[in-house]
Amino acid sequence: CKISRKDLLLNAEKGGYAVGAFNIYNLEGVEAVVAAAEEQNSPAILQIHPGALKQGGLPLVACCVSAAEQAKVPVTIHFDHGSSKTEIIEALELGFDSLMVDGSNLTFKENLSCTKQMSVLAHAKGMLVEAELGRLSGTEDDLTVEEYEACLTDVAQAEEFIDETNLDALAVCIGNVHGNYPSSGPRLRLDLLKELRAVTKKKGVSLVLHGASGLPPELIKECIKLGVRKFNVNTEVRNAYMESLRKPGKDLVHVLASAKEAMKAVIAEKMQLFGSSGKA
Ligand code: G3H
Ligand code: 13P
Ligand code: ZN
Ligand code: NA
Repeated sequence: CKISRKDLLLNAEKGGYAVGAFNIYNLEGVEAVVAAAEEQNSPAILQIHPGALKQGGLPLVACCVSAAEQAKVPVTIHFDHGSSKTEIIEALELGFDSLMVDGSNLTFKENLSCTKQMSVLAHAKGMLVEAELGRLSGTEDDLTVEEYEACLTDVAQAEEFIDETNLDALAVCIGNVHGNYPSSGPRLRLDLLKELRAVTKKKGVSLVLHGASGLPPELIKECIKLGVRKFNVNTEVRNAYMESLRKPGKDLVHVLASAKEAMKAVIAEKMQLFGSSGKA
């Protein structure tokens, strides 16, 4: 069923758990998330990033909208990593409940000004706004201390950013990365997360962590305790799908059904880990 993105996150805040936002590429992905959510009695967020939107077009969004309406549990639809104004303005008309302004490649001032502008437009449409401060660092093993620290979210900037942009959710960079973590494992600055949480809590803004694929369960749980309310998951689900597709099989219906099951299993496991199972 449809629920406002605001209520979805408010419930997570009250319940002390996080909601998974899973990147969608096609029909099987949509069905895998909804099936996992119904099985787990969990809320869920379907998210589409610009590359997937370009590929799947309006039918992909329509598929998410219809699946969300028919789902037995609360499901919302999010535009992930909108990094140009054109992209974001187009996304305003498509049926998303929320969007991310990704100004992480911009300077702080430019990011603030872009997010502020997009936030007015999105709010006028009743959509919630997520933005990112700092920059997700690479997965390189040989990142210097300076390079690592340059990517982290600054606490004072976070406060100013939230006040100026009127945003609803803040994606923070505490050493989290898209895709795989370095072979040495994730280095998350939980002390920084705690400071950022103090700011976002005071302002009534939800804390978001991108790059959840590859984070070990203990670390995920620690992040939830420290206030993360939305985790973005892409790589692990995508890998499950692609690995399954590589298995031999002649009947495409069966191949796709297996691939969907493979995604669903990963998603269900994340829902349990995020504590959203049983919370629909
Ligand atoms: O967040 C943006 C895309 O989902 C990229 O994720 O690092 O798994 O390709 P990826
Ligand atoms: P992962 O690919 O590491 O799960 O990150 C997903 C993400 O942040 C999508 O916005
Ligand atoms: Zn991301
Ligand atoms: Na990751």
